[in-house]
Amino acid sequence: MIRSLTWKLEGNKNTSTRRSERPQTKTEHRMGSVGSDNTHVFLVCYPAQGHINPMLRLGKHLAAKGLLVTFSTTEDYGNKMRKANGIVDNQPTPVGNGFIRFEFFDDSLPDPDDPRRTNLEFYVPLLEKVGKELVTGMIKKHGEEGGARVSCLVNNPFIPWVCDVATELGIPCATLWIQSCAVFSAYYHYNAETVKFPTEAEPEFDVQLPSMPLLKHDEIPSFLHPFDPYTVLGRAILGQFKKLSKSSYVLMDTIQELETEIVEEMSKVCIVKPVGPLFKIPEANNTTIRGDLMKADDCLDWLSSKPPASVVYISFGSIVYLKQEQVDEIAHGLLSSGVSFLWVMRPPRKAAGVDMHVLPEGFLEKVGDNGKLVQWSPQEQVLAHPSLACFLTHCGWNSSVEALTLGVPVVTFPQWGDQVTNAKYLVDVFGVGLRLCRGLAENRLVLRDEVEKCLLEATVGEKAVKLKNNALKWKKVAEEAVAEGGSSQRHLHDFIDEIARTSIT
Ligand code: UDX
Repeated sequence: MIRSLTWKLEGNKNTSTRRSERPQTKTEHRMGSVGSDNTHVFLVCYPAQGHINPMLRLGKHLAAKGLLVTFSTTEDYGNKMRKANGIVDNQPTPVGNGFIRFEFFDDSLPDPDDPRRTNLEFYVPLLEKVGKELVTGMIKKHGEEGGARVSCLVNNPFIPWVCDVATELGIPCATLWIQSCAVFSAYYHYNAETVKFPTEAEPEFDVQLPSMPLLKHDEIPSFLHPFDPYTVLGRAILGQFKKLSKSSYVLMDTIQELETEIVEEMSKVCIVKPVGPLFKIPEANNTTIRGDLMKADDCLDWLSSKPPASVVYISFGSIVYLKQEQVDEIAHGLLSSGVSFLWVMRPPRKAAGVDMHVLPEGFLEKVGDNGKLVQWSPQEQVLAHPSLACFLTHCGWNSSVEALTLGVPVVTFPQWGDQVTNAKYLVDVFGVGLRLCRGLAENRLVLRDEVEKCLLEATVGEKAVKLKNNALKWKKVAEEAVAEGGSSQRHLHDFIDEIARTSIT
C-alpha cells in the first residue's frame, strides 16, 4: 500500500506527541522503534567531521518533519560523539514532529588510535568490507517484527557501497553530496570522460566544464590530478559516480541560486536537489543534538569584548594539518598586521603521528588580549558573531558555505581536494574572498608579508567593503532559500514526498 504524505505527517504528529509524552516501552527502547506507521530513513555517514555535520543536519530536518531517522557511522566516531555531545545510541530522541536515533557499527579496528584509519588506501576498502555486512544486518533487523522498517537509505561520499546494500534489500537510496555542485560536475565529467582533464603528458592542462569558468590545472579538485598524492581519495569519490543511477535523488548542501547554471546542467544527468545551507534550516536547529568530535572551547565572551567587524577567525577544518614552518609564517604575519584574531589550533590525531604545532617564542606575550587560541570552536556561532571581520579558511565546503551564507568575507588558504575549487569560486565567482594560497600543489611557503598584506586588505578599506557587501548578498539568498517556500525547503519537501511515495507497507 502506498501512503500519502499528508496522512503520514499528520499521523506522525499525533503519534510523536503522544510518544514523547509517555515513557517508552521496553521494546521501543531496545529496538529504537516508534511504531510501524513511521517512515524510517536510515543515514549512513562516512566517519569524518566534514561528512557528519551536513548529514546530521539533514537528519535533524527530516526528523523535525515527522520521520524516524537513524544516523549511523562507525563505532570509533560514535565514541567521540558520545563524549563530546552526550549522544545516546539506540534510543529515539524527539526532534520536532519526529525522532532521531544513533546506531554505530564496528570498523573492526579495536584501537582508537590505529594509524591505519588515516591510510585511506587501506581504510576505504576495509569499511566497505565490514560496513556492507553490518549495515545490511542492521537494516534487516529493523524490518523484523517490533522494528521500524527502513523506507530509504541515504549515504554520502566515500561509501558508495551503501547504494548496493539498498539495491540488494530493495530499498530506495539517495545520496547527500556534501560538496559544491561545481565539484560534483568535475567528478561527473571526469568519470564520464566527457571533458579533457590534465594527464601525465599534459599536467598543466586547463579544464573547461559546462556552465563553469575555465579551471586552471590547480583549480580542479586536486584528487583528479595525475600527480596528486591522494588520488586514492579521487577513486573513492568516483566510486559514487559509478553508482549514480542507484541513487534516486542527489541532495546537495548548496543553494539553487548560488549555482543555478551548474545545477541545471547536472539535472540533465540525475535528480539534483540543492537543500542547503543545511546548517541554516530552522527545523534542524531547534535541538541540542550535534555531531562535533571535540567539545568546543568557550570563546564567545572574548569575541563579544571586541569591536564590531574587527576579528579575523582562522581555522583549517578537521583534517588539514599545516607544516610547522607555515604556522610560523601565519603567526608572524598576524603579529605584524596587528589585527585581532581567534585561531583554532586543533591538536593532531594521535594516529597521524605528527607533532603538535608550537608558536614562535614570545608570540603569546606579544599578542596579549589581541588574540585567542582554541582547540575547537563553535564555528557557526563564531561566524555569526558581529565582532567578526573575516575568515582565514582552508575552504572545506562546510566552512565555505557557513562563511558565505553568514555574510563573512574570506581569505582563502586551500590545500587539496575540493578546497582548491571552492577557493576559486569564493574569490572569482562569488566575490567574497581574497586568495592567499593556491593549494598544496603550489609547494611553497606563504610568507609572513603576504599574510599581513592579505589580512589587512580583507579587513579594512575599499576591497574589504566590497567583499562584505557581496557576502551579505549571499547571506540574504541563503535566508530566502531556507525560508518557507524557498528553494531548499521545497527540495527537502520533494524528497520527503518521494520517500512517502515509494514507501510501501
Ligand atoms: C572535509 C574536507 O577537508 C573538505 O575539503 C570537504 O569539503 C568536506 O570534508 P573539513 O576539512 O573538516 O572537511 O572542513 P569543512 O568542510 O570546513 O568542515 C569542518 C566542519 O567543522 C564545519 O562544519 C565547521 O563548522 C566545523 N568546525 C570546524 C567547528 O565546528 N569548529 C572548529 O573549530 C572547526
